[in-house]
Amino acid sequence: MAPIIEVKSLTKNYAGLPAVSGMNFAIRAGEVLGYLGHNGAGKSTTVKMLAGLLEPTSGEILFRGRNIHEDLAGFKRRVGYVPEESHLYSFLTGWEYLDLVGTLRGIPAAVRDAKSALMLEELSLFRHRHTAIAAYSKGMRQRIMLIAALLDDPDLLILDEPFSGLDVVSALVMRRVLNLLAENGKAIFFCSPVLETVEKVCTHLVVLRQGQLVASGSMTEILASKLALEESFFQLTEQVDADGMASRILGAIQSK
Ligand SMILES: Nc1ncnc2c1ncn2[C@@H]1O[C@H](COP(=O)(O)OP(=O)(O)OP(=O)(O)O)[C@@H](O)[C@H]1O
Ligand SMILES: [Mg+2]
Repeated sequence: MAPIIEVKSLTKNYAGLPAVSGMNFAIRAGEVLGYLGHNGAGKSTTVKMLAGLLEPTSGEILFRGRNIHEDLAGFKRRVGYVPEESHLYSFLTGWEYLDLVGTLRGIPAAVRDAKSALMLEELSLFRHRHTAIAAYSKGMRQRIMLIAALLDDPDLLILDEPFSGLDVVSALVMRRVLNLLAENGKAIFFCSPVLETVEKVCTHLVVLRQGQLVASGSMTEILASKLALEESFFQLTEQVDADGMASRILGAIQSK
């Protein structure tokens, strides 16, 4: 089966310093690709390139075999994107925001109203729909972003730490939604610094360190070869002297 999205030798340098180097992966219909890496590993940089918001320094991103920059507007119509930080129009209410997104995506009014109402209801936001987003909690904002990303039934979902701030119930419901979307032939890119989160949702995994791929494969393969995971992901954690760091930080806080 041909991939929905494919990344080839993708590289991004900021002021000459590599943030992502020679990255390769593909996501096929029905797959949820976990993108696991520590803070600063290059996850959001990859996400922004995948969403067409940041130009790669080199390499390419193919959507159904075509470079996304050949028809960026057409590509964006088929993609749902949840950024790491929501820069929502906080003066709008949740309902107005979804209405705006639906309108920009050309969804007929009756359809977008019905879809928004259903999703708001299931994610416990319906009674808050006429409240300004500025008054939403982090988890409520995260849920509105997810609804907006799903409004146009995208072929590809790009999620940058989508569960951060979600409570147990919302996270569980969203996890099930992602599973169902994958079963229905969608491709999902899911990045997170937390192995336990990725493990529960994803069918495939890419582990990156300092912008480079250090392990990849199906989730079962990678979990089975615990050694690969330890070498690629846990090694760094184990080398950290957290107690020493904490006491030096306390020293700094208390220094006069
Ligand atoms: N706009 C920018 N200008 C310069 N350097 C940047 C910029 N954005 C990111 N970087 C650098 O690129 C590297 C990767 O950052 P990125 O945000 O992709 O990491 P991340 O894996 O998403 O981290 P986190 O888990 O903290 O969200 C970091 O070293 C960061 O300092
Ligand atoms: Mg990030």
